[in-house]
Amino acid sequence: MPAEAGLFLKNLWYVAFYGAELKKQKLLSKEILSEKIVFGRDDKGDPFALKDNCPHRGVPLSYGWFDGKCIQCCYHGWKFDTQGTCTEIPALAPENNINVGKIKTGNYPCKEVNGIIWVYISDKKLSENTTVNKLPDLLLDSNKKFKHVEKVVLPCNIDHSVIGLIDPAHVTFVHQSWFWRSKKSLRIKEKYFEPSPMGFKMSRHAPSTNSKGYKILKGGKSTEIDFQIPGVRIEHIKIGEKNEVVSITTLTPLNENETELNHFFYTTLAVANIFWLPLKTLGKTFIGQDVGIFNKLKKGLETDPKLMLVGDPDTQARWYYELKKQWNKAQEENVPFVNTLETQKLQWVT
Ligand code: FES
Ligand SMILES: [Fe+2]
Repeated sequence: MPAEAGLFLKNLWYVAFYGAELKKQKLLSKEILSEKIVFGRDDKGDPFALKDNCPHRGVPLSYGWFDGKCIQCCYHGWKFDTQGTCTEIPALAPENNINVGKIKTGNYPCKEVNGIIWVYISDKKLSENTTVNKLPDLLLDSNKKFKHVEKVVLPCNIDHSVIGLIDPAHVTFVHQSWFWRSKKSLRIKEKYFEPSPMGFKMSRHAPSTNSKGYKILKGGKSTEIDFQIPGVRIEHIKIGEKNEVVSITTLTPLNENETELNHFFYTTLAVANIFWLPLKTLGKTFIGQDVGIFNKLKKGLETDPKLMLVGDPDTQARWYYELKKQWNKAQEENVPFVNTLETQKLQWVT
């Protein structure tokens, strides 16, 4: 099946791994946006990403060897540096006089920030639009490393995954737990949203009083919830003067039917160390509840039903589609991306 037009947003950064997954002298293959990519970490500790095909006969380079400097293909032993330039063809006699440095396999910009490895997926046919210099803003200083990560694969495309991530209305039914919130505590929520450079954010506000999870945190609290294309949601909680809790969820389309979700957690709160196990369990429970509903959704989508977006609870989903449209337009016309969203108040019952 060909990729649904515009399903994947290109010329943007995506989460590939968390740092500890990528070991020195090991190669890891991964499908991202339906592209096969081989990742590694060189002797200096820097990550890199190459197209996972040897330019000679196409064997995945990830089956080859890597000594921290050179990737060697397992078929005829061609060697490449970490930028994908061929450095040696063992079978060539010196007489052949061929400049092997002209042979290259595609490479991808790859960076590690906050303990997260990002890869930039471009579409050369579209403009590069200089976004390669702009990693998503995780509302976290770049020298801070996340404390915990949960990773799952959702059995849906990126659009359904994003909408599930920013959808306020499912919380009441999917994430109902006695220790978090119950149906009895339903009330009208009124939230203010404003556009941000790559998406929109729920303006900083006092967290909802029907979430028990917030109640146990002492001190003045405020939350800002940020969404950025292609699929990053950040909940940034300030507690008192100097403490923060940052909950970052990123979505990486693997292909048209699967999307990887990574949930990164960061906090300055020492108390989190004491409550580590229950916190971890809570996170796992939440994500497990989402995976559960996504498995059901997948079944429903098999018959390709017509879908609808209704009222304020679905407005963020509409914004997401609008942002996608504007992003694709900007790439095609080779002009800067313009966020056309406006400040707005939304109401819903949860
Ligand atoms: S296929 Fe890689 S060296 Fe021949
Ligand atoms: Fe959810």
